[in-house]
Amino acid sequence: MKNEQIEIFDTTLRDGEQVPGCKLNTEQKLKIADALDNLGVDVIEAGFPVSSPGDFKSVTEISKLVKNAVVCGLTRAVKNDIEVAAEALKYARRPRIHTGIGTSESHIKFKFNSTPEKIIEQAAEAVAYAKKFVYDVEFYAEDAGRTDNAYLAKVCSAAVKAGATVLNIPDTTGYCLPDEYGAKIKYLKEHVVGIDRVRLSCHCHNDLGLATANAIAGAINGARQIECTINGIGERAGNTALEEVVMILRQHPALNLTTNIKTKNLLGISKMIANEMGMFVQANKAIVGDNAFAHSSGIHQDGVIKNRETYEIINPADVGVTESSIVLTARSGRSALAYRAKKIGYELTKADLDIVYLEFLKFADSCKEVVENDLHRIIEGSKSRLEINI
Ligand code: KIV
Ligand code: ZN
Repeated sequence: MKNEQIEIFDTTLRDGEQVPGCKLNTEQKLKIADALDNLGVDVIEAGFPVSSPGDFKSVTEISKLVKNAVVCGLTRAVKNDIEVAAEALKYARRPRIHTGIGTSESHIKFKFNSTPEKIIEQAAEAVAYAKKFVYDVEFYAEDAGRTDNAYLAKVCSAAVKAGATVLNIPDTTGYCLPDEYGAKIKYLKEHVVGIDRVRLSCHCHNDLGLATANAIAGAINGARQIECTINGIGERAGNTALEEVVMILRQHPALNLTTNIKTKNLLGISKMIANEMGMFVQANKAIVGDNAFAHSSGIHQDGVIKNRETYEIINPADVGVTESSIVLTARSGRSALAYRAKKIGYELTKADLDIVYLEFLKFADSCKEVVENDLHRIIEGSKSRLEINI
């Protein structure tokens, strides 16, 4: 079966930058946009131009800079938002306006004090208005995750009729289960009028830790664009993490879904975003966390030293990590100790290893990790009892 392309829509500079404390200036945004373009993302959501003069300027400058990716600006279903976004995007080689409105019962009632019929009209009007400025118009049905599927299909059909090129189905509150979100995408594939002319997009939030699983369920059921952020940053608990969806698709070739991402750049860009935003990545974060390729228990270390694949499903080099690390702790075994000793120049015999291991355990019990200097001291301190000539 032929592989199908999943477009990667990066919203680090919009949904990601909404996070308190993560605000970036234009210079930082340009640096990140350039790195995202080099990473191979298909779409860069550069900002929400009407939200502030600073964001307008950033979207304008990013539009001038980006060479390959589509540059996208967010709007509400409001004429002035759309005009301002069009102005900010005017230098983009491939501009896209991303416009939309809340479609769930709670959004219609409490946010807009409106009716389902009026929301459909407003959605179609916004798309048609955006089409006056650009060909590529993405429509979002905010809180689609909690929107009744039959009604959602009607809103989406109206958006397609008005000229939408992409339909974004956000699980804005991170509520859906993967089966439910996948079934929603399947339903839309089967019921939206004109669906063959457009691309369905997943935009999932992580309130229940399901953002990545939901996006993958969406792709399996026919979505062909995934909206995501580097390190999974975004409103509240964040968005689908780019590095996770990309590596899931790559590690599961049977899904027949591929992306254009240069995976070797993943660690570098993750570190860049963490530094620029001051939002550090948890050590156990999949793919890019400090411990993602670190092994500390004796059983795992022994396996990895014999063959990396015993405990690693990803080759660290594929995501830009130099090599797996064998961390020395009180849970480490003899093979890890011998391996690390060899790396710093000590070839221990079996008898020597027994002696050094006892000293190592005494020390390791008193600290969290035994680092290179400690190991030197332990071996040098045991020197008089060893066979080898250090
Ligand atoms: O989560 C959401 O619904 C959004 C939309 C504005 C696309 O970010
Ligand atoms: Zn969002």
